[in-house]
Amino acid sequence: MSYPFQIKSYEQYKEVYKQNVDQPEEFWGDIAGQFVWRKKWDKVLEWDFKKPDVKWFINGKLNITENCLDRHLDKIGDTPAFVWEPNGRDEAHKVFTYKELHFKVSQFAHVLKNNGVKKGDRVCLYMGMVPELPIAMLACARIGAIHSVIFGGFSAQSISDRLQDAHVEYIVTGDGAFRGGKDIPLKNVIDDALVTCPFVKRVIVYVRTQAPISMIKDRDVWWTDEVKKVEAQGNPVVAAEEMDAEDPLFILYTSGSTGKPKGVVHSSAGYMVYTTYSFVNVFQYEPGDIHFCTADIGWITGHTYIVYSVLCAGGTSLMYEGLPTWPDAGRLWDIVDKHKVNIIYTAPTAIRSLMAYGLTPIEGKDLSSLKVLGTVGEPINEEAWHWYDEHIGKKRCPIVDTWFQTETAGILISNLAGVTPAKPSYATLPLPGIQLVLVDEQGKEITGNDVSGNLCIRFPWPSIIRTTWGDHERCRLNYFATYDDMYFTGDGCYRDADGFYRITGRVDDVLNVSGHRIGTAEVENAINMHTGVLESAVVGYPHELKGQGIYAYVIMDGMPENKQLAQADIAQTVARIIGPIARPDKIQFVTGLPKTRSGKIMRRILRKIAEGEMANLGDTSTLLDPGVVNDIKDGRV
Ligand code: WTA
Repeated sequence: MSYPFQIKSYEQYKEVYKQNVDQPEEFWGDIAGQFVWRKKWDKVLEWDFKKPDVKWFINGKLNITENCLDRHLDKIGDTPAFVWEPNGRDEAHKVFTYKELHFKVSQFAHVLKNNGVKKGDRVCLYMGMVPELPIAMLACARIGAIHSVIFGGFSAQSISDRLQDAHVEYIVTGDGAFRGGKDIPLKNVIDDALVTCPFVKRVIVYVRTQAPISMIKDRDVWWTDEVKKVEAQGNPVVAAEEMDAEDPLFILYTSGSTGKPKGVVHSSAGYMVYTTYSFVNVFQYEPGDIHFCTADIGWITGHTYIVYSVLCAGGTSLMYEGLPTWPDAGRLWDIVDKHKVNIIYTAPTAIRSLMAYGLTPIEGKDLSSLKVLGTVGEPINEEAWHWYDEHIGKKRCPIVDTWFQTETAGILISNLAGVTPAKPSYATLPLPGIQLVLVDEQGKEITGNDVSGNLCIRFPWPSIIRTTWGDHERCRLNYFATYDDMYFTGDGCYRDADGFYRITGRVDDVLNVSGHRIGTAEVENAINMHTGVLESAVVGYPHELKGQGIYAYVIMDGMPENKQLAQADIAQTVARIIGPIARPDKIQFVTGLPKTRSGKIMRRILRKIAEGEMANLGDTSTLLDPGVVNDIKDGRV
């Protein structure tokens, strides 16, 4: 497959950028024309950010799996689509060619059908990083079912919330998952979640760890048994369901500044077109390259840059089951060496944690196959950027610092590897098609260079969020109501003297812990469920490895006798309710919180104290009880 939409020079980037602004519909229509459609669209775009209502490729019909699989069969059917590297070094890796993947997806699509799954049904996938996860995703897409992948680290309560929100009747899970030195008891967690979800009709269980699990008659079935039934039926090929361009492809839950996580909904066609375009441009992917994205498929990065965009481009995606630092900090570099990886795409947190082990784990590893290095998920500090550049890329591989969000589905701001300039700690420039705006608190546009503001986008791109599942108003309020006629990202951003963009972090009450999005309100709600807790406030603070750590101020009904134990108990409650990723790093017991006269918590003050900036807390005169600030300062942990 060649990529006619791949930009090859900085000059061309500038031309294409302008061309898109002048004629966006022609631009996206040309790119969409490179894909396989059952029926061409009537119109490229209709949009109204006020509602919001955004539609791309109107009345176009397609199935994304025909673009990921079927169309590659003739030309590159024997090329690896996935290379799967297991958790431990001792187990053999697996390769799935496009033909094999097509076969497996069709087979599992049949399993889903046999179990009653129909177009439009929601299917929850709660699995480890095994090849059966993308197989199940693609099988859903094949028959028009909407997948909702839940990261293996989320708790039973979090799963139950998500199952109820989208009224999910079908689940695919594993007995357990291997992740570094830990076995995650997936099925046990699902069983706990299902206590509150009696509407779930079927749970299909893939065996990976051979952990003992309970299997309930008439509800739970084994993956392999179901596949055998399809084999007995003669493995009929499941034809792809014809989908409308705007039919939902998947739901992916993510945290916001208020309430419970919301289900971000992406469409079929727009998602396919934009993410593939971003993949071949940002990474400058060439046919035959081995692309290794270390993210978990439970996050948007994995959905897009392990599964859909790579397959749509006819690429080879390397998928790794385990963790970068297990069994030792040389594991990733072994994988690069073993599979001759060309592109590695990881999070700054992973780079920082590997840096801490020094250079010994890299010694003797042949990294010469690498051509491009990528980072995503959080701002990358210059030290980590230079370490990556020197010790992994050996100063010959461009680094792409890619900015995007669950809601944008694909990379919106990044340098194009080796094509547009890189700048340490800068995501640099928007991809053609992305019109960035910086605004002040009142929504007034900040023009010129060497300025900072809140990052907004003024024109739709094909993979923009369509709605939040079951609650369109929430989508409007979250992203389209803060500023008129603009999509608001929730991020702060600096535009330097040369017009390059540097993301400075969230400006709302969302934390970014090890590249994972967590809402402060979510953590507070979980803490408040702990016995004896009266009130809490959660803020982020700079953390050497995780980027941000979670600092919780907690008011108890009487100071606990054993503070340490109480802190550990509260952390345990949070892990139970949300998942271990939301466990607070620091908990301080306080007797009051700084509040304005109208009862609003002044987080700015709490943030400063958590950061250790005690001297300059700003104006505290509007507080109801300014004295409480000194007590909090004195008790800082
Ligand atoms: C942050 C992850 C700085 C940002 C793909 C955004 C980044 C949030 C970068 C989305 C980057 C992502 N530099 N910050 N290159 N990439 N972020 O939805 O705050 O899990 O709003 O998507 O991560 O997190 P999400």
